[in-house]
Amino acid sequence: MESTAKSLHKAFFPLSSQYDSTWIKQNSLGENVLYNLESLTEVIEFKSGMRVMDLGCGKAVSAIFLAKEFGVQVWAVDQFISAADNFTRIREMNCDNSVFPLKLNAKELPFAPNFFDVIVSVDSYMYFGTDERFTPYISQFLKSGGHIGIVDICFSKEINYLMEVPDFMRTDFQDKWYYVHSLEWWRKLWQRTGHLKIKTADKVPQNEFIKNEYIKDFKNAKKSDAIADALEKDSDGLINIFRMVAQRSEKVIELGNYSKGQ
Ligand SMILES: C[S@@+](CC[C@H](N)C(=O)[O-])C[C@H]1O[C@@H](n2cnc3c(N)ncnc32)[C@H](O)[C@@H]1O
Repeated sequence: MESTAKSLHKAFFPLSSQYDSTWIKQNSLGENVLYNLESLTEVIEFKSGMRVMDLGCGKAVSAIFLAKEFGVQVWAVDQFISAADNFTRIREMNCDNSVFPLKLNAKELPFAPNFFDVIVSVDSYMYFGTDERFTPYISQFLKSGGHIGIVDICFSKEINYLMEVPDFMRTDFQDKWYYVHSLEWWRKLWQRTGHLKIKTADKVPQNEFIKNEYIKDFKNAKKSDAIADALEKDSDGLINIFRMVAQRSEKVIELGNYSKGQ
């Protein structure tokens, strides 16, 4: 008989449960990258032939998945992961004609405006996207009517003052957590630009399952991890995984003085 975790895995993630779980885990840089991505694909329509940017793609597993499952072309961008190593993974999965690895800073992209149908960012947007000027900047690469979708960690409420930080994350907060925000904070950030119409902003339906699997993986590997430790102690459900999808409006994007590296 299948374990409950295995059958939940298949029910929650019919597509990614077909992939080798060791391969996914070895090549995920946060939570299981395909769990996060598949929850996003439930709320974005991918059509064969679309041009997709996978921003902060890490080891390109998400880009490979999108190309294989939906027949899209993916530009897999990451500032710190070698494009050569990603290309090896891409070739091993027979995606070398549809996934293009690039080692680039999200804030210095060379693409033409209006080039992409979809931009996704899995567990990465938090690293560069909290800057208020970044969302207009990245939106310029979307066609009018194109979609941007992110999956990331959020808090159930905004933490404004250090005194609001729960004891279990106090030591780490100012190094590892201060840039985590509430879903409402993210929604306002995107809405304020006027460039994006929010289509979905919610906790992923598989939130509890993903968090529990993450804790379990580190326990099984007898490794310690700040996020897994915090998740285990988070009895009030402060830490969650959210997804947000928006459509680019027709508003002309003025980038003002947004410039390289800022
Ligand atoms: C937590 S990892 C997630 C990677 C992958 N999406 C996954 O889920 O396995 C965050 C990724 O963002 C990338 N990153 C951080 N800052 C970046 C930037 N300014 N431009 C491009 N990538 C960046 C890191 O190199 C890292 O691979």
